[in-house]
Amino acid sequence: MKPADISTKIFLDSGDPKETEVVKSVLGWLDGQTTNPTLLARNPAVKQMAENQALSEAELEDAYRQIIERINKLIPGGDISIEVYADAFTPAEQMVDQSRRFAKWADNPYIKLPITSAGIEAAQQLLQDGIKVNMTLCFSQEQAAAVYTATAGLSGGNIFISPFVGRLDDRGVDGLSLVFNIQKMLKDTDGHLQVLAASIRSVEHLSILLETQVDAVTVPAKVLLEWDKAGRPIGTTRRKANLTPLPYQEFDLRSEWKSFNINHSLTDIGLEKFAADWQSLIVAKN
Ligand code: E4P
Repeated sequence: MKPADISTKIFLDSGDPKETEVVKSVLGWLDGQTTNPTLLARNPAVKQMAENQALSEAELEDAYRQIIERINKLIPGGDISIEVYADAFTPAEQMVDQSRRFAKWADNPYIKLPITSAGIEAAQQLLQDGIKVNMTLCFSQEQAAAVYTATAGLSGGNIFISPFVGRLDDRGVDGLSLVFNIQKMLKDTDGHLQVLAASIRSVEHLSILLETQVDAVTVPAKVLLEWDKAGRPIGTTRRKANLTPLPYQEFDLRSEWKSFNINHSLTDIGLEKFAADWQSLIVAKN
């Protein structure tokens, strides 16, 4: 059972249902799970299949479906994020086609789309059809502003935005400050966009995010098990001081989404890596 003092949704960040089973039995609950092409490529069964013989695109998609269906059985009704295959050139229509198939795999699916122009256009189409989305690879407050305005009026709170904490920390930038800035920007808004802190590396990240009551956080199994071992701290650990915080920026959230600059080098790098990990499994047969 989830403790009453935790309002944040806690998701497992993993492509392996075995981890879902372990973490759920240790914690006693999970609110959902997030997956991505890198995590899919790390799934032991997928890895084994691809090592024996590279998969066709249809076989890979089928393997992904089976994984999501197993996760769905372990967390019935949980928020389950399924990421489309996309690179910098993938058009919105292609993302929408994949999403319509992927959205059938779980009771409560969130389709993960990159924050590119095509990804945002795909999100608008999907939301109009009642399909929930998780906008991923967020590295700037301005990207969050664009997603907010692009999706205003399209759904009743069915949208996550995923700021990537650890990948900013890796560059010496305080990833948590991005989450706080987005939370602040969205504070007095209609609530249609929810913050899902991603790329979590430590118990410290998790405990601070729980204290600030971020809407949701997705966490690798290792960190969740360490958090449990440490007595499930909430805001009781201190942050490292050697990271540069991002300044808060004022944006007019009534502006047209295309007026915002959604470019970020880490989004480009992340997109390339996800695409490469997906392609590494299928290269030989296609
Ligand atoms: C989840 O939605 C993200 O894809 C994931 O948290 C990224 O984590 P990483 O930066 O450790 O790859």
